[in-house]
Amino acid sequence: MLELTDVTRRFGANIAVDCVSLSIPEGQMVGIIGRSGAGKSTLLRMINRLTPTSSGEIRFEGKTVSGLGGADLRNWQRDCAMIFQQFNLVPRLDVLTNVLLGRLNHRSTILNILNIFTIEERASALAALERLGIAQTALQMAGTLSGGQQQRVAIARALMQSPSMVLADEPIASLDPLNAQIVMDALRDINEREGITVITNLHTLDTARAYCERVIGMAGGKVVFDDSPTELTTSAVRMIYGASGDGTEISESITSTSISADRPVVPVRPKSTGPLQPALSANTAVAGVALPA
Ligand SMILES: Nc1ncnc2c1ncn2[C@@H]1O[C@H](COP(=O)(O)OP(=O)(O)OP(=O)(O)O)[C@@H](O)[C@H]1O
Ligand SMILES: [Mg+2]
Repeated sequence: MLELTDVTRRFGANIAVDCVSLSIPEGQMVGIIGRSGAGKSTLLRMINRLTPTSSGEIRFEGKTVSGLGGADLRNWQRDCAMIFQQFNLVPRLDVLTNVLLGRLNHRSTILNILNIFTIEERASALAALERLGIAQTALQMAGTLSGGQQQRVAIARALMQSPSMVLADEPIASLDPLNAQIVMDALRDINEREGITVITNLHTLDTARAYCERVIGMAGGKVVFDDSPTELTTSAVRMIYGASGDGTEISESITSTSISADRPVVPVRPKSTGPLQPALSANTAVAGVALPA
């Protein structure tokens, strides 16, 4: 369970996140939506401790995240893997090495200095790439891959951290619709197969409806909606996207969906079927490719 209590972040006089309290149980797939500047990225970054909180408390499984330092902080950052809109790979390193970088915080300093990865680690990295349908790119320089492929490498790297949570900040904002779907399917897959909590900022309502069991709407740094996507009525969407106080009405270009009636829209998230696949771990090569290449 991840618990945020009155979490606030100020930048000078500007309050980016304003007294947010949330409980997110393990294994949820959560979408955060809201206008530009609503505080979505700042909220994710505070959970991962890339940005410190100004006040309030973040707790995970009973321990206070806001107070961690040194090795404990590194362990926490390993435990909640971040995925960014711009992938954040090392473009001049090959794909396999980029994925192996996800193991760095699991290893001794000396192994890291010597740049030695074990056979098991390499096999595991390759299995993660295979699972994401891009094993054939393993020896290619990461910078030469398409955006959709790079984001899949970033997800493979995140999996190598063996995280209990994945925090994705607009993971599909730079991708075309097909690659956006592949990446969202991959996030759903790790959520359903490994039970990893996924919290993702999204800029389209359609994606939040299709993939998330819980949607958090932010406006002006506050949580103004926190419910199932079926409750995203027109008035709820107005509250999320139209609450900036500047009088601007919501438009389809912001929400990327057609909203014509004040009634819930049924999400298309299919239920998981069939037996669970084996979980990915450092020592387990995952067979089977779950996603299209
Ligand atoms: N490092 C920073 N220094 C100063 N102000 C910042 C900083 N980071 C964020 N802010 C401000 O905090 C507010 C929230 O920003 P944030 O990036 O969290 O919004 P967002 O909801 O992620 O927006 P977008 O959809 O555009 O990514 C904005 O007013 C922004 O200008
Ligand atoms: Mg953002």
